[in-house]
Amino acid sequence: MTSPQTLSLPTQASPPEFALSDLRAHAIVGAEVVALPVLPAPDGPDSTVLLGPGADELGADLVVDLLAVLEMHEATGKVGEVTSYPVPQGAPHNEALRWVLLVGVGEQRPEDLRRAGAALGRAVAGRASVATSIASLTDEAGLEAFVVGLMLGSFQFHWRSEAPEKPPVGRVVLTGLPDADELAPALDRALAVGGAGWRARLLSTVPSNLKSPEWLAEQARLAGAEAGLEVTVWDEQRLAAEGFGGIVGVGQASATPPRLIRMDYAPVTAGRKTPTVVLVGKGITFDTGGLSIKPGEAMVNMKRDMTGGAVVIAVMAALAAVGCPVRVVGLVAAAENAVGGNSLRPSDVVRHYGGRTSEVTNTDAEGRLVMADALAYAVDTIGPDVIVDVATLTGAMKVALGQRTGGFFANNDVLARVIDEAGAAAGEPLWRFPLAEAYEEKLASKVADADNAPGGPGAITAALFLQHFVGSTPWAHLDLASVGDSPSEWHEWTTGPTGFGARLLLQWLRSEDPTGGLS
Ligand code: BES
Ligand code: MN
Ligand code: ZN
Repeated sequence: MTSPQTLSLPTQASPPEFALSDLRAHAIVGAEVVALPVLPAPDGPDSTVLLGPGADELGADLVVDLLAVLEMHEATGKVGEVTSYPVPQGAPHNEALRWVLLVGVGEQRPEDLRRAGAALGRAVAGRASVATSIASLTDEAGLEAFVVGLMLGSFQFHWRSEAPEKPPVGRVVLTGLPDADELAPALDRALAVGGAGWRARLLSTVPSNLKSPEWLAEQARLAGAEAGLEVTVWDEQRLAAEGFGGIVGVGQASATPPRLIRMDYAPVTAGRKTPTVVLVGKGITFDTGGLSIKPGEAMVNMKRDMTGGAVVIAVMAALAAVGCPVRVVGLVAAAENAVGGNSLRPSDVVRHYGGRTSEVTNTDAEGRLVMADALAYAVDTIGPDVIVDVATLTGAMKVALGQRTGGFFANNDVLARVIDEAGAAAGEPLWRFPLAEAYEEKLASKVADADNAPGGPGAITAALFLQHFVGSTPWAHLDLASVGDSPSEWHEWTTGPTGFGARLLLQWLRSEDPTGGLS
């Protein structure tokens, strides 16, 4: 039984286009909006802020005005500050010019540039194009961060019947770059990383009357085809035949049956000794809680319970573009946790891939049931050097961390360090939690190998539950329930789905030796 589909993806759902220009003046001619960097006063608050490169081309008179405007607004040059200056008559070399935006860039670290990019992206929503010299201040890392911030700060799409009043800016020209050719690869990598974040947010934003497990599998096939990946999808019959009892059990009450999605990436240079990474994503396309049903308010955001799966799909599709040097296999365990006559009952026992069993004392602890199957499959058939799983797994994480930091666990300190550093560098910060042996006894069940809802500490016992399925493989478990949704607009985070994890995993997987020193 499937439900008729009356919703499709909106067409206006793409990020801005970007171009590089070495000719500052040339690019500015014809631009309706020009954005210039503002640097904090070098000698403390009593001195004046500095107007960065790119202003001179607008004519000396305008520069005098702009400096006066900054002073009148008491601009500080701090990140996120945008001062708009209207130019009704245009500028001497640019009659089309109407607005100059003065954008604070703070200390110009990559994080500052990412945030300046996001602030600019918001300020130019609804405009056809903007030319900006901000990227000329910095190196490749700064340029990448600026572009990613601008893209993600612009994220939006909807199904409202009226066209968006202020859609993402159409085109961004990065000016003042002396050697555009040399920077083109850095721009391409930035577009891949920002695009992955965008795709993860988009998939998470799609409502569950469109987003079934099969729909998610189709998105993986499309993304995989674009990126030249091999994509394999298990349907419910094959899942049952091969013993994926967790995925089958959680998905069995839904009108849209479960899927396991596998995406395979191999670097062009792959030799026989290329190490292998497995990424596993939680792909619950809607989490009602099952018979252990969630209260209404707790259910509203549960279309986003496939954020981990969206992150895995988005990352897989971007690996070639960022030059990932290792083999990567992405797995998404996709199912809808629905209520029906065929739902799992509290006290049911499921047998996971490979034979381990779980007593389902709470059907709302469904994420670990589907993740367990995929982890066991990965260890058994792929034999990876590293496994990283990504899941919006426990509400406990939100209580512990609030909504700006993700939680993670690792059974390997080197892996923990590289994951932690990647998160910090990518603007997706994580905090490590312990796989505390002391709570292991809580997992005990009278009738199965483990109880799926062993009680508090909730995030830790969930991680301990999963640990049994990875054996001795170096493993990190990202519990992103805290950060799947942003409650407000915050730098490059837009209200709603964050796609958290895509940027941090790409930051890690593009490094020279992602699996180095682990064993
Ligand atoms: N999908 C939820 C976790 C979640 C909560 C994600 C809030 C995002 C925001 C997960 O499936 C769940 O329901 N977990 C339960 C587990 C409990 C029943 C052991 C929880 O955390 O309450
Ligand atoms: Mn749940
Ligand atoms: Zn869930």
